[in-house]
Amino acid sequence: ETPSIVVHSDAKLSKINDNIYGGFLEHMGRCIYGGIFDPDSPLADENGFRKDVIDALKELRIPVVRYPGGNFVATYHWEDGVGPREKRPTRRNLAWNGGESNIFGTDEFMKWCEAIGTAPYLCLNFGTGTLDEALNWLEYCNSSQNTYYANLRRQNGREQPYNVKYWALGNEVYGSWQVGQMSKEAYAVQAWQWAKALKLADPSITLILCGETGFAAWDSYVMKECIRIEAHALSRGKTKPTIDMYSIHGYTADDEHYANATGPKHIERAIQICASFIDHAHIVNNLPSTVKKPTICFDEWNVWSPLRAPGQTGAEESYTLSDALAIGIWLNTFIRQSKLVQMANLAQSVNVISPLMTSKAGISKQPTWWPLLLFSKYMRGHTIALTLRSPEYEGPTNPDWLRGTIETPFLDASATIDDEGYVNLAVVNIHDSKAFSTSIKGIALSSAEKVMVYQVAGADVQRDATASAEKALARHVKLKESSWDASNSHDFSFNPLSLT
Ligand code: AHR
Repeated sequence: ETPSIVVHSDAKLSKINDNIYGGFLEHMGRCIYGGIFDPDSPLADENGFRKDVIDALKELRIPVVRYPGGNFVATYHWEDGVGPREKRPTRRNLAWNGGESNIFGTDEFMKWCEAIGTAPYLCLNFGTGTLDEALNWLEYCNSSQNTYYANLRRQNGREQPYNVKYWALGNEVYGSWQVGQMSKEAYAVQAWQWAKALKLADPSITLILCGETGFAAWDSYVMKECIRIEAHALSRGKTKPTIDMYSIHGYTADDEHYANATGPKHIERAIQICASFIDHAHIVNNLPSTVKKPTICFDEWNVWSPLRAPGQTGAEESYTLSDALAIGIWLNTFIRQSKLVQMANLAQSVNVISPLMTSKAGISKQPTWWPLLLFSKYMRGHTIALTLRSPEYEGPTNPDWLRGTIETPFLDASATIDDEGYVNLAVVNIHDSKAFSTSIKGIALSSAEKVMVYQVAGADVQRDATASAEKALARHVKLKESSWDASNSHDFSFNPLSLT
């Protein structure tokens, strides 16, 4: 059977939210200090921001950045990080072993967001934090009134509110690793109470509930319970929902190439199951169809094995070509599921589990940089329908339940049409030795002036246990640009181990 792809360019499935190309910065390892902020470096600007990092991230066109954690946020008190620097206290960073000087805080983060042209997304402290602190932070960032925290912001040099739109109700609160871990029952009650108060203070914000994997018992319970309370409030005349988005996290990784590259396939199922929990919560609570359902915010995702690159030592993952292909499948998944996933944040943006590494001398890009760049550049607009026929991979997977639950073809694809009418097709071939000659139909190829082809490929697919991040940089994973004359044949050969 010849592999084939049929692209249905006139069948727009859903609009792609640009926010799926979001980033994430945490006070962890060398992400903030030595990553985006390095005042002693000759590469820094007058604010202490690394200019080379700003330029690189601008290239990725990141529309939104989550901050300040992650696990870090469970003991973070935002007031420590504002005002005169010499007065800011150094605290312990309980999540990642170490100290936190608080030299980089809210105002610095906002300034940095302005420098790269991105929207801030703040995560609230559900560990040692209080609702008061959360409300005060919101007032500091968003209020234009003559009130204490809005005036504190003015005193710290910022007249205009920052208008932070996205706020998360805690991070991984279910986790045994979390300071202030909660049961699902306790979390649902607290999250809704905080959400109600935050929306009273600023109804324009988007509130994001803390979910787990999308398919956990936590997810079905928290969603159903919050929607139950929501339904009650709506029945008493409230018109807008309090919870706008539901966050889930996922990291995939395996030392064996096929298990590694097929890992992100389970994410597609996680997204679908999570969306079903949302639907179910609406159905059992009898909410009318006019009430907007929460959408999915995949606010931490990447290829990461904490055993291989422990968080406590900065999680500096060393990426391979196999990882770059896995990232391609992650991104294809977000494109295919663009109706459900309205935001996704790569964890993280610099040094920590990141495609972008800094050294004293400059920056370097890991193999996973290239799929991110290609998707962010080309895969925008609308998702369009696509039919794929491909031989199937049938070996072990990680997670194991993937097999039998979702298909794992060697080819993985998604397609978009951008606002100018250009059709873009992304295809990953994870086979380690076979090229697949694939018939491509459905796009008017012969009339196309030119089909541009960008291909990520290279050597060293397998992981070398001793490899450092520097070694990964020498892995020769490259982006090759060419064009394809499709006027004679509509068969395109996808090379082994490539993203095209
Ligand atoms: O991104 C690294 C860590 O992974 C985050 O702090 C946490 O939320 C997740 O477990």
